Amino acid sequence: MDIAIIGVGYVGLVTGACLAEIGHTVICQDSDELKIDMLQRGETPIYEPHLDDLLQKNTASGRLSFCKDIEEAVKPSEVVFICVGTPPLDTGDADLSAVEMVSKEIARVSDSYKLVIEKSTVPVQTGGWVEKTLRIYGSKDIEFDVASNPEFTREGSAVYDFLHPDRILIGTQSERARAILRELYAPIIHRRFNCPVHGACPQSAEDVPFIVTDINSAELIKHASNSFLAAKISFINAISDICEKTGANIKDVSYGIGLDKRIGKDFLYAGIGFGGFCFPKDLQAFIRIAEKCGYDFKLLKEVQQINDDRITQVIEKARSALWILKGKTIGILGLAFKPNTDDIRFAPSLEIIKRLHDEGAIVKAYDPKAMEKTRTGLPGIEYCKDPYEVARGAEGLVICTEWDEFRNLDLERIKKLMKRPFILDGRNIYDRGKMLEWGFEYVSIG
Ligand code: UGA
Repeated sequence: MDIAIIGVGYVGLVTGACLAEIGHTVICQDSDELKIDMLQRGETPIYEPHLDDLLQKNTASGRLSFCKDIEEAVKPSEVVFICVGTPPLDTGDADLSAVEMVSKEIARVSDSYKLVIEKSTVPVQTGGWVEKTLRIYGSKDIEFDVASNPEFTREGSAVYDFLHPDRILIGTQSERARAILRELYAPIIHRRFNCPVHGACPQSAEDVPFIVTDINSAELIKHASNSFLAAKISFINAISDICEKTGANIKDVSYGIGLDKRIGKDFLYAGIGFGGFCFPKDLQAFIRIAEKCGYDFKLLKEVQQINDDRITQVIEKARSALWILKGKTIGILGLAFKPNTDDIRFAPSLEIIKRLHDEGAIVKAYDPKAMEKTRTGLPGIEYCKDPYEVARGAEGLVICTEWDEFRNLDLERIKKLMKRPFILDGRNIYDRGKMLEWGFEYVSIG
């Protein structure tokens, strides 16, 4: 199938690479010419496990290409995925100007039937606007179908998630669109592709559920899913506060709660809160959508508030252990909002660093992948080549991201290098008993 991907951010690039991998011919377009130049040179603008390999392999086979001109991508393609950004406005609403602009462009350059699919996360009822835009700005003789096909991939495991989804969700009223999308995703639905992640995938006899709803419901499922997951995290973070006040242990409590199948064990890890470009912005956008429908979504506002308070709590924990923060050297281990990505957007580490700077602390930092991105936007930090360099002379270390590298540190060496062996484990990656045995001052979450 001939496919165009408009917008090569995290979503577009992973979608394009994976669809080429399962056998389609994919042209990716972006108005950011530097990004396209990079991709045409064979460089990958983001770090995402397995993505590099997929890009190389599929560009070499000719199934995947990149271009700057939207007409070049759309004209030969039957299916067009809109994967442009929907960043937050000051009001909290999603900025849909790129979605509108791209819809107009698709309408302008199309000279044959197109199935236009919104993959970007958008507020409910956006599909209706896309449909209207295509009708108004497109030629009267050209037929368009519109579908919503939200993605549920996580950064850091996006290739894996794309190829092994829990479900494929399609929102459309068109029979033709439904049939095209079923065919497009057939290798994934029936698990018939050479898996770049596993080699041979663990066998599963069952097809991936392919769910078809109307467009509004599909759009709502996406926002509701992210909001629910964010709520789960804030819930467990609130429980971790109660654990601290009562002497209970959050790891045991999470485990005990999560064994109930109705609740599930995932997204019950307490810590310094959720970040990234999805949860914070989608939560905000969903609260605004509800507001516009006349519903005050107080539950989600509280989810947001609990998350914001995590940062203040980290600073308070540091202060109650170290007393005066001014002039003290604090090391940050982990800048990315989660492991296996170089994405620092809305990362809790950034806000923690900002607050430490406000207090007059001296900040050193290390991250296995996210240093370049942080360095450009966040000056006034000593960026170190490894965790040991961060520990040298530090009076405290704050673990902000649970990279495996930090789980396997030579803690004896870390302790010797530190001026004062205080560790604030914001992701609960160490065992309290062992840390105390080794002579650390150890503070964790819950
Ligand atoms: C999230 C969703 O998980 C994906 O399903 C969705 O497709 C994506 O948003 C999106 O809308 O594009 P992502 O933001 O990549 O994916 O990362 P998550 O793994 O969901 O983690 C989000 C944040 O929650 C991270 O900061 C992570 O550290 C935090 N988190 C996660 C916790 O604090 N505790 C947990 O138990 C789980």
